[in-house]
Amino acid sequence: PLVPMKELLSDAVARDYTVVQFNTDCIEITQAFLRTAEANRAPIIIGVGQGAAKDGKIEPIAAMLRDYCSRSKLPVSLHLDHSEDPAQVMQALRAGFTSIMIDGSARQLPENIAVTSEVVEMCRPLGVSVEAELGRIPGVEDDLVVSEDQANKVELSVVEEFVGKVTTDALAVAVGTAHGIYKSEPKIDFELLDQVLKATSTPLVLHGGSGVPDASLRKAFDMGIKKLNVGTELRLGFLKGVHAGVEAGDNIYACFERGRQIVDKLVFDKLKISRSEGKA
Ligand code: G3H
Ligand code: ZN
Repeated sequence: PLVPMKELLSDAVARDYTVVQFNTDCIEITQAFLRTAEANRAPIIIGVGQGAAKDGKIEPIAAMLRDYCSRSKLPVSLHLDHSEDPAQVMQALRAGFTSIMIDGSARQLPENIAVTSEVVEMCRPLGVSVEAELGRIPGVEDDLVVSEDQANKVELSVVEEFVGKVTTDALAVAVGTAHGIYKSEPKIDFELLDQVLKATSTPLVLHGGSGVPDASLRKAFDMGIKKLNVGTELRLGFLKGVHAGVEAGDNIYACFERGRQIVDKLVFDKLKISRSEGKA
């Protein structure tokens, strides 16, 4: 069934594991997330990023995903990723999302607090969960492009001020990972992560999960990261499979299946590392 993200994160806190958010681009890739999560009895979050949401797709994609998720035996959250606009959040709430990320990280702190508070007020009466972002994560996620100059790691004083003023169900913190393809090996600032973990009891989220070495992920999870976001490596894997199918002269459904089989493996690896396997 569809559940709010908060429920998944509370269980992850209680039973010491990390929930993985898999970002989708289409129904075909989502089928791989759901079947692999089901086969491994893992609760998951399905993320709809700004690329998947644009061109008026929020309503139709939500309708399809809600149908798939509510027929699943697993607890699944349907999450709008990196929204910067309360009007888009309203649209997503009407479409039935159970979780929202309001990304105010491009704004000054008082404005980030203000827009996050506005979204919390919209979501809370509906039982919909909210994630906010502190610091600014570099890289490319669909149309969201943040250069190294614009990016900054989260500051402890910012975390303290933010959590004193607004309560969210999850908090994305910029601690060294990036969106998209890494040019060099990502370096998570574990010292900073440790300080942030001590400064708040809000479950913390690591974005930019693609291409982060398993050992770094494991360490971040052991320290207390409760949610991991993965996008790029799934879509690249899917496309690789589809491309191989096209080269082989397969029909479109066989191409999709090749894509899904690559995604199955990527999803399985993340479910193992996060210890969410067997928790649903
Ligand atoms: O919000 C989306 C994620 O942070 C995905 O990042 O595409 O680098 O895996 P990624
Ligand atoms: Zn992200």
